[in-house]
Amino acid sequence: LTDLHVRTATAAEQRGVNALAQLPTPLLTLDVDSLEANIEAMAERIRGTGVGLRPHAKVHKSVEIATRQMAAGAVGLCVSSVSEAEAMVEGGLGNVLLTTPIADPGKAARICEMAGTATGIVCVVDSSGQVAMLRAEAERRRTLLRVLIDVDVGRHRTGVPTLDRAVALAREVASSGHLIFQGLQAYAGQIQHVADYQERRRLAGGVAEGIAKLAAALTDTGLPPSIVTGSGTGSHDIDRRSGAYTDLQTGSYIFPDVFYGETSLFAGDEPVFRPALTVWTRIISNNQERLMITDGGFKCMAGPKDIAPRVLSGAPPDSIYRFEGAEHGSILLPPGAPKLQLGAMVQCLPPYADATVHLFRDYTVIRRGRLAEFWPIQARGHG
Ligand SMILES: Cc1ncc(COP(=O)(O)O)c(C=O)c1O
Repeated sequence: LTDLHVRTATAAEQRGVNALAQLPTPLLTLDVDSLEANIEAMAERIRGTGVGLRPHAKVHKSVEIATRQMAAGAVGLCVSSVSEAEAMVEGGLGNVLLTTPIADPGKAARICEMAGTATGIVCVVDSSGQVAMLRAEAERRRTLLRVLIDVDVGRHRTGVPTLDRAVALAREVASSGHLIFQGLQAYAGQIQHVADYQERRRLAGGVAEGIAKLAAALTDTGLPPSIVTGSGTGSHDIDRRSGAYTDLQTGSYIFPDVFYGETSLFAGDEPVFRPALTVWTRIISNNQERLMITDGGFKCMAGPKDIAPRVLSGAPPDSIYRFEGAEHGSILLPPGAPKLQLGAMVQCLPPYADATVHLFRDYTVIRRGRLAEFWPIQARGHG
């Protein structure tokens, strides 16, 4: 958004005119009342369970949101890249776990630089090469770096694949000067979107058993893990009671998307998290009978390729949204529905919030239904 847009919208808001309509689309809006309700709802689910919450900031990439999560009692934050970590540290949030292993010395240098100033920096390793690289950099800077062993608990992406190798790597870390062995990261990404709750519970139970065995083996060798972190929005309700984790890395709960909408998060009729993040598009062409063309293509909403945005307002709820390329979308209206006007705005739930947020520079923040402010998305960069 440019200064001009911000000034025009703010002036419109003061005159009581629809301020959103003054803003350019595609537009990312955040309903802060729903966001805060979601943050509180998750904090409440965790309270009294004996586990902590380490929310994944890769989903929102925002210092303002991370600050609210910390204020609600989070034990720290997760990030997925060094640049996200830097944005959080710069924003005054120094308790940050980098959940992705790194393999280049430049990033090792940046992590150690942060660890020199912020005491809560933690990173993960799944191989001896990473241990050697981090140790060399930490030694060079005479800094201490906290390290977790990243364990493969079935996602087969990163992580040490066997118990014996995980124990061996933990020993290696513990015997490396300047590195402090802190425990384990065991993120079961493969089960987060298993739609059926009971099936997810069965799978999460198997994962928890494996983690407990590894934790016991480490304790037997004199290296009891003080942190065992993992889980996500999909399995948090199960993992909070399993006893396997010290803290949960939930991310998406702050603004549910279409992807998570297909997963039943709870066993019964418990309250669900409220949609808070939406993308507004405009009708830019309406020459066809039922197919309205928008300015919202896959440059402004992202997700797994078989998942489309869902229309929330501005068009009949049973309209079907489809991407028509990078800059265009289409809305197929139900039979008999009147055409949408040129310039009409349509509000959509993005397919996958995590991959949508970084396509924008800022959140347009709505409070009690009115334009309130703009929050920069500080951690939208890569690397
Ligand atoms: C390592 C790690 N932890 C936690 C999460 C958060 O999961 P969710 O957004 O499903 O809550 C992710 C998401 O991809 C992840 O990669």
